[in-house]
Amino acid sequence: MLCIQDALREAVKKLEMREMMTPLLDAEVLLCHVLSMDRLFLYVYRDRELTEDQIQIYRSMIAKRLQGVPVQYIVNKQEFMGLDFYVEEGVLIPRPDTEILVESVLEWTKEKGDQQDWVIADLGTGSGAITVSLAHYLQKSHVYSVDISPKALSIGRKNAKDHGVAERIEFLHGNLFEPLRRKGLENKLDILVSNPPYIPKAEVNRLQTEVAKYEPILALDGGEDGFDFYRRIVDEAYVFLKNGGLIALEVGHDQGEFIKKMMESKNIYASIRKVKDLSNIERVVVAIIKK
Ligand SMILES: C[S@@+](CC[C@H](N)C(=O)[O-])C[C@H]1O[C@@H](n2cnc3c(N)ncnc32)[C@H](O)[C@@H]1O
Repeated sequence: MLCIQDALREAVKKLEMREMMTPLLDAEVLLCHVLSMDRLFLYVYRDRELTEDQIQIYRSMIAKRLQGVPVQYIVNKQEFMGLDFYVEEGVLIPRPDTEILVESVLEWTKEKGDQQDWVIADLGTGSGAITVSLAHYLQKSHVYSVDISPKALSIGRKNAKDHGVAERIEFLHGNLFEPLRRKGLENKLDILVSNPPYIPKAEVNRLQTEVAKYEPILALDGGEDGFDFYRRIVDEAYVFLKNGGLIALEVGHDQGEFIKKMMESKNIYASIRKVKDLSNIERVVVAIIKK
């Protein structure tokens, strides 16, 4: 027999021995998942006995965590923009940093005022975090969501259904702008948003084990210098955006200035602006198309 407190103690000890970054948090989140309870429950009912089944499931989850599997892939869940997203191996776990990108788009739509039937494209669906949040918070929008990974598209579809926005999203399989061209979306978009792969190839292998080992390389690898996708997006976005439309790109912490300059050199982008997070790190570059 094992009570909540003892189960946590046992798990934390094992996780500490493997030098995990957040042993207590991981142990608690996984136990909450087994019990379908929140963390407060663990503190209030610390003497509650676990059933044999619960102990077995919990130990097998801890064993996965000890191998380096991210907690989100074990519980199949990550919160993003106040919504729960289903995730599994094969799609990127949505990051809190990406909320800055979604918030920048939402702010712009607020400033624009009356219009509500936004036509949006999201390049690189992943779990559908950006696509589904935008469809959720912009209730009359229509989103085209493109990914080259069929797995990402199927997880994106699941999340869209779970959040009741599937009928306003078209998931398109293909390479960056190619599906938009197929759909004849030239000059049709109000907003183009993307969190593309942006890590330089050589760095991908040096990433924290769990990122490099469990998250899809396809979602991370931005080519030799990390800018491959930005070059393609900055070159072609104007074809699909309406005059006055918004482009919003998530960028790596040291990539913003280069991407801003890339845009400045094109003479079709105006109001180019870098957006920082609360720690003063540049996360997003936004601009308006002037044709
Ligand atoms: C950094 S992830 C972003 C996922 C999600 N939007 C998010 O923010 O969590 C980049 C995504 O781009 C997709 N991708 C990679 N190369 C692509 C390409 N050539 N065309 C379309 N999507 C691509 C990957 O499969 C991955 O899902």
